[in-house]
Amino acid sequence: MRLGAAILFCVGPALLAQAPEPRYQRPAPEQPLPYSHLKHAGELKIACAECHPIPGNGDFATLPATAKCMTCHVAVKEDSPHIQKLAGWHAKGVNPRWAPVYRIPNYVSFNHRKHVSVEGVNCGTCHGPVAEREVMRREKDISMAACMDCHRTKGASNDCLLCHDQR
Ligand code: HEC
Ligand code: HEC
Ligand code: HEC
Ligand code: HEC
Ligand code: HEC
Repeated sequence: MRLGAAILFCVGPALLAQAPEPRYQRPAPEQPLPYSHLKHAGELKIACAECHPIPGNGDFATLPATAKCMTCHVAVKEDSPHIQKLAGWHAKGVNPRWAPVYRIPNYVSFNHRKHVSVEGVNCGTCHGPVAEREVMRREKDISMAACMDCHRTKGASNDCLLCHDQR
């Protein structure tokens, strides 16, 4: 009995680790700097909204300008080659070319503000535990089926024209 349990205990996690990833998950894209959410959002506890405000009509959660980064990095790790690159871009007024992680096609309507005001929904619902991640990768499903699953559960409409304009 004891031995059986011990074997299960050892083998179980190994089998789990080998389970294939769901198809909607993607490897992390290469980024221009080794930016870490674990460091900034997790350890330093900078709020998501500090770097991803949702302006205007609320469609986009936006990416931070270099000015935001330089509030700290004028004095933090300014001798690191990565921070020197960042400072160089900032001086030239160009933004790092961050590779997209979560994107849906243009013919789909999606509004961040309306979704984060839904009871029980937050950034993590669609992007996972970002503050625990060293690198960002697509780990949550944002396919049409995933949108519709939640709409069904929460009693929101699944009319085609809710998400797709009439063409
Ligand atoms: C509130 C202050 C603060 C802000 C704002 C901030 N950082 Fe940082 N960042 C830090 C600290 C602190 C570290 C850790 C430094 C260390 O390891 O000693 C760090 C580390 C880094 C590193 C690793 C540097 C290295 O070579 O070890 C990178 C890259 C980085 N930040 C990029 C950014 C970018 C890009 C932004 C803007 C989107 C940003 N940071 C905004 C405080 C900040
Ligand atoms: C200090 C600034 C900063 C903070 C705080 C921050 N982020 Fe980010 N975020 C970035 C930067 C820079 C990128 C682009 C690089 C990357 O993907 O790692 C990014 C990328 C992302 C992306 C992918 C964007 C895309 O193009 O697909 C998501 C989603 C995201 N962040 C969510 C969050 C959430 C949720 C929080 C709070 C838990 C948060 N971020 C906190 C700076 C920040
Ligand atoms: C209901 C799901 C959902 C929630 C909740 C959500 N997002 Fe998103 N997020 C998406 C989708 C879908 C995209 C792709 C949007 C596109 O391509 O137009 C996206 C894209 C992004 C991007 C890339 C830039 C952009 O706006 O397209 C960032 C950054 C981001 N989200 C951050 C956040 C943050 C921060 C929160 C919490 C305040 C959040 N998201 C909440 C689904 C969600
Ligand atoms: C976690 C649950 C959840 C997910 C995931 C989700 N939605 Fe929604 N969505 C809702 C709810 C609830 C409403 C109704 C909000 C209201 O009436 O205030 C809604 C409303 C909408 C609306 C109408 C409001 C507006 O923005 O005009 C659109 C369009 C929409 N969702 C598109 C999408 C798309 C596209 C996706 C997938 C990329 C998605 N939703 C994923 C819960 C979700
Ligand atoms: C809640 C939002 C939502 C609703 C409702 C919705 N869609 Fe979609 N649809 C999406 C999203 C998001 C995508 C993009 C998926 C992707 O490319 O990852 C999409 C993609 C598509 C595509 C392209 C598919 C492909 O495989 O390239 C078609 C066609 C489509 N939808 C038709 C429909 C029809 C017909 C209905 C009504 C029965 C409908 N959609 C209802 C969100 C929605």
